[in-house]
Amino acid sequence: MSMGEGQAPALTEAELKLVQTLVYQECGMYFDERRASFLQDRVIRRLKECGVDSFYSYYRLLLSQPGKKELAQLVENLTVNETSFFRNKAQLDLFQHEVLPGLIERQRERRDYNLRIWSAGCSTGQEPYTLAMLVADALSYSTVRSPEPSVPALPKPPVPVPWRLEILASDISYSVLRAAQEGSYAEHQMSAVDYSFRLRYFDKVGARYAVKQSVKELVHFDFHNLKTEYLPQRNDIIFCRNVMMYFDEAEQRRLVEKFHRCLNPQGYLFVGHAESLLGLSDKFQMLHRNAGTAYQRVEVSQ
Ligand SMILES: C[S@@+](CC[C@H](N)C(=O)[O-])C[C@H]1O[C@@H](n2cnc3c(N)ncnc32)[C@H](O)[C@@H]1O
Repeated sequence: MSMGEGQAPALTEAELKLVQTLVYQECGMYFDERRASFLQDRVIRRLKECGVDSFYSYYRLLLSQPGKKELAQLVENLTVNETSFFRNKAQLDLFQHEVLPGLIERQRERRDYNLRIWSAGCSTGQEPYTLAMLVADALSYSTVRSPEPSVPALPKPPVPVPWRLEILASDISYSVLRAAQEGSYAEHQMSAVDYSFRLRYFDKVGARYAVKQSVKELVHFDFHNLKTEYLPQRNDIIFCRNVMMYFDEAEQRRLVEKFHRCLNPQGYLFVGHAESLLGLSDKFQMLHRNAGTAYQRVEVSQ
């Protein structure tokens, strides 16, 4: 690393390689040449914030036991957290009009009224809250059409009895998880949320929109690093959108394999618009409708 006078310090190629490998091992994010300057900027920023005077000292800190916290902080600084409500409308239409009604019907036939959905890489919460609203609507609609043998509870919950909806939303960044848990959004973040959803699922608090407590209770936020093996099991549906695109092919392959194990039989995986399972796994069957794509787990005989 060189620090010329008045110049921004630059990492050498070897230094960049070291930190690139460490970050990849920690969280699966892969910084190729196109993203190397982003990696360099963030490393130098953290290095200054830690008050460390050389790359060597910073790297030693990252490798040490007390430096674990700093490594997590660096990773957090490298994440891209862009997200929005009702992102990828075509895919959500497929979810709402085909995948969800099929799943609800299947569960009803089995008299199993539990639904478990995992939003992996949930960022500031717009994705899991979108799912909570869509599933709550779908369950209410299906219950009106074929009422369950139950006494309706008062006041009316967003999910009709006897259904139990559990949405797990996870991320590697604590700061986005905190914001997600808070569930308070500015007007400009609400552009894709139509009037009917705003009215039923949000409270207007000053200039902001707060997700109603009853909807928040459907979503459980937690830290999970997708690089690790210990991931939430027995999901009916997994959304992991715009996360895999930051991993290299080997890591994507490993992740898809893990998702296969984390899904219930016939469960579904939704990935981002720019992502695909093509060439990564033959354990999923692709469903494609009007520009929306989902992948259904197929059962492989041992
Ligand atoms: C671009 S956002 C996508 C948010 C949302 N899924 C969407 O599509 O709108 C990617 C998120 O993945 C998270 N992420 C990146 N690597 C991760 C990892 N190894 N484990 C868990 N989350 C990770 C980032 O912190 C970030 O919040």
